[in-house]
Amino acid sequence: MSDAQKIKPVRKAVFPVAGLGTRFLPATKAIPKEMLPIVDRPLIQYAVDEAREAGIEQLIFVTGRGKTAIVEHFDTAYELEATMHEREKSLDVLAATRVQPGNLVTVRQQVPLGLGHAIWCARAVIGDEPFAIFLPDELMIGTPGCMKQMVDAYSQVGGNVISVLEVPRSDVSSYGVIAPGKSHGNLTEVTGLVEKPKIDAAPSNLIISGRYILQPEVMDLLENQEKGAGGEIQLTDAMAQMIGNQPFHAVTFNGTRYDCGSKTGFVEATLALAMARPDMGDEVRAMARRLLGL
Ligand code: G1P
Repeated sequence: MSDAQKIKPVRKAVFPVAGLGTRFLPATKAIPKEMLPIVDRPLIQYAVDEAREAGIEQLIFVTGRGKTAIVEHFDTAYELEATMHEREKSLDVLAATRVQPGNLVTVRQQVPLGLGHAIWCARAVIGDEPFAIFLPDELMIGTPGCMKQMVDAYSQVGGNVISVLEVPRSDVSSYGVIAPGKSHGNLTEVTGLVEKPKIDAAPSNLIISGRYILQPEVMDLLENQEKGAGGEIQLTDAMAQMIGNQPFHAVTFNGTRYDCGSKTGFVEATLALAMARPDMGDEVRAMARRLLGL
């Protein structure tokens, strides 16, 4: 059997969405931060669209209390649809919110013990398949999208694939950082991983940017994972243990990343995406010029 035949396709994706979103209070008191819109699509919709473009079928949301709006968003809204139909309004705008029956699964993260713990909560749904992870705060805009770029690379090398991007060295302590090995094209071998290193201890300025394709063995490692940076169970620490046992590569994302976990990143994304929209770009650019006094 050739290597390509042995590589199992990525059909499932985990979206850790249990966070409290305290940075966006009071907006996020009663609605999940993943439902905050960039122009007219909630943040979570961008991640789901990116997943689907990459061929992912099953969406697994790791949720918590107060997060039901996310599930509602991807459900059929009978009254809304019936009323729109009666008024002869197009339902096309809702197309991206439809999920095939059985392809949306939620699991609860009952205690906020960290990203590694959130992913581990999905272990029963993942079983023994490779799976993707999307951190929806990281808005990745590209053609093709970030996960599609990763799946294309994965179909060549298999194993574990994460997306990385360069940041100024002064910023590395907020992220997971890779120790890079050999590079070919957009692929770099990963020889080490550190979560939130001190600036002078960071092995590079290439950070993990919130997209992963991982082999199911990571779940066993997470099971026994000790607390790491910030006193949390870190996904990065479990991934680090797979290096050397399985192929581990980073894909340098060809596109633009917006950090929607920060307020200014959120505003930047809103402005950039609004300006790029054919239906409103000209108007928004004119507004921006006016506001800047240009
Ligand atoms: C998480 C990951 C980190 C990654 C980052 C990307 O950190 O642990 O490795 O670089 O997301 O946004 P968090 O932002 O949850 O602190």
